[in-house]
Amino acid sequence: MVKRKTCVFISGKGSNLKNLISYSRDSSFPIKISLVISNNRNASGINFAKKYKVPYILINTKIKSHENKILMSLKKYKISFICLAGYMKIISKNLIRYYEGKIINIHPSLLPKFKGLNTFSRMLEKNETKGGCTVHFVNDKLDSGIKIIQKFFFIKSGDNEIILKKKTQNLEYRAFPEAIIKIFRDI
Ligand code: GAR
Repeated sequence: MVKRKTCVFISGKGSNLKNLISYSRDSSFPIKISLVISNNRNASGINFAKKYKVPYILINTKIKSHENKILMSLKKYKISFICLAGYMKIISKNLIRYYEGKIINIHPSLLPKFKGLNTFSRMLEKNETKGGCTVHFVNDKLDSGIKIIQKFFFIKSGDNEIILKKKTQNLEYRAFPEAIIKIFRDI
């Protein structure tokens, strides 16, 4: 099986990156993590790239040429698939155009509910009964592309933001790999 060379974009802890690296070591998993890109030089997730010897690139989104640097790096590593795993920046329209239908994102809510940031505090404010995560294709509107997989849990009284995040991330570690398997099974 030819694995798709994949780049994972991160901004922080990188627990989804770690999980994807671990899945990708299975010969039947359809992607190989060939590159990590972080917009945050202090992202602890970079340590997973170092530990598992995956090349990584830091980009400064304040510098105008950063988009060019991203595109050149993706080209250099022959990347054909992109996973946004806690990447807290908007992806440029140009990049979306180059990789149309090949960029997916994981979001910590049951989209279309709670697009954007601070999902857990907003869910608690609204007395939601269910939380969860969504893996979706990326288009040029925030958290709005076609859904691939959603997983949910019931919110219990007493659940706070920390608990919601933990429950959500536990689902994410299953949802992200399942979504990837589904995409490449269907084509
Ligand atoms: C994940 O929970 C992901 O859903 C969220 O960031 C976290 C990253 O965790 N993404 C977003 O909020 C995107 N809008 P990780 O760095 O431990 O993988």
